[in-house]
Amino acid sequence: MVKAVVLGAAGGIGQPLSLLLKTNPLITELSLYDIVNTPGVAADLSHIATPAKVVGYLPPDDGLKKALTGAELVVIPAGVPRKPGVSRDDLFKINAGIVRDLATGIATTAPKAFVLVISNPVNSTVPIVAEVFKQKGVFDPKKIFGVTTLDVVRASTFVSEVLGDLSLAPKVVVPVVGGHSGVTIVPLLSQSSHPLPSGFAKDELDKLINRIQFGGDEVVKAKDGAGSATLSMAYAGYEFANKIIRAVKGEKGIVAPTFVNLAADKEGGEALKKEIGSDLDYFSAPVELGPEGVVSIKSLGKITDAETALVKAAIPELKTNVEKGVSFVGASK
Ligand code: NAD
Ligand code: LMR
Repeated sequence: MVKAVVLGAAGGIGQPLSLLLKTNPLITELSLYDIVNTPGVAADLSHIATPAKVVGYLPPDDGLKKALTGAELVVIPAGVPRKPGVSRDDLFKINAGIVRDLATGIATTAPKAFVLVISNPVNSTVPIVAEVFKQKGVFDPKKIFGVTTLDVVRASTFVSEVLGDLSLAPKVVVPVVGGHSGVTIVPLLSQSSHPLPSGFAKDELDKLINRIQFGGDEVVKAKDGAGSATLSMAYAGYEFANKIIRAVKGEKGIVAPTFVNLAADKEGGEALKKEIGSDLDYFSAPVELGPEGVVSIKSLGKITDAETALVKAAIPELKTNVEKGVSFVGASK
């Protein structure tokens, strides 16, 4: 039995993500919550011949509470997306309050659920969820995740393009660490399961790193005012959600990069802080998943000097983003 809930389910990410969750035979209940249109989306998805019972909820009549009752997995793609000229941090003004209020609902009604945060800016919205849970006395750092999987998916795709064979994309694994915006996105290409061509020039490598860091801008520009990545994000969000479900069902050895509070694994978190030379409380690192959430936070392993420099460059922005989320919740007490 798995009850999954999508908060922001009628949106550009919410709809295709709900579709993918509906295809998962392990999900028995799928609750869709949004401020608009969820009855229609739910009615549509409910005709698909898979086990999940789909119900749509709106804010009236305690809709959020009803959607969240009994939830084991909550995915949050609610909030405004970027347009050209807008940074993820600019979205904080609107999305911080949305995420805080939804987190309050989860902390009250489904405090033990796994919470997967997609809403931007992820580097700040994850600390917002954590601070709300702390205020409510239900914080478990092992169960709150910032979804950075789209960066990992992009790295696989772009590396396979460089290798001249897109059919490799599903097999290419590149850890992407740090956070989820611009320079905080740090691809560890030296650890790619499929090495870059020998003699790959430094300027080509820099271009590839930049493309992974700013892949979101590519989509925002192409959509030309109509939003940001939705379909690739739904794919990535489902991939991560499915890893959580598989881990909950007892599959061992599932490791994925995700933006977590480093207290999720005291020993691993402290070791990582030493490794990156910072006292940051949040970082996207390769994390092993288990039935209770984070089993361990892994070391970044052997990285090049250039990658060490990228990690160092990510830290100041990460720190500012995290502090902004933490103080937002402190100020809204
Ligand atoms: P969208 O505007 O298409 O959809 C957002 C949905 O959220 C809408 O249906 C809206 O009604 C709903 N919503 C707004 N306020 C709400 C509330 N209080 N409660 C419930 N639902 C609410 O946007 P989108 O393209 O789906 O993007 C959603 C968010 O995901 C954005 O913040 C975007 O930046 C972010 N995003 C993150 C990643 C990532 O890698 N983590 C990737 C892409 C997009
Ligand atoms: C992305 O990486 O595509 C998302 O964070 C959306 C955005 O604003 O770029």
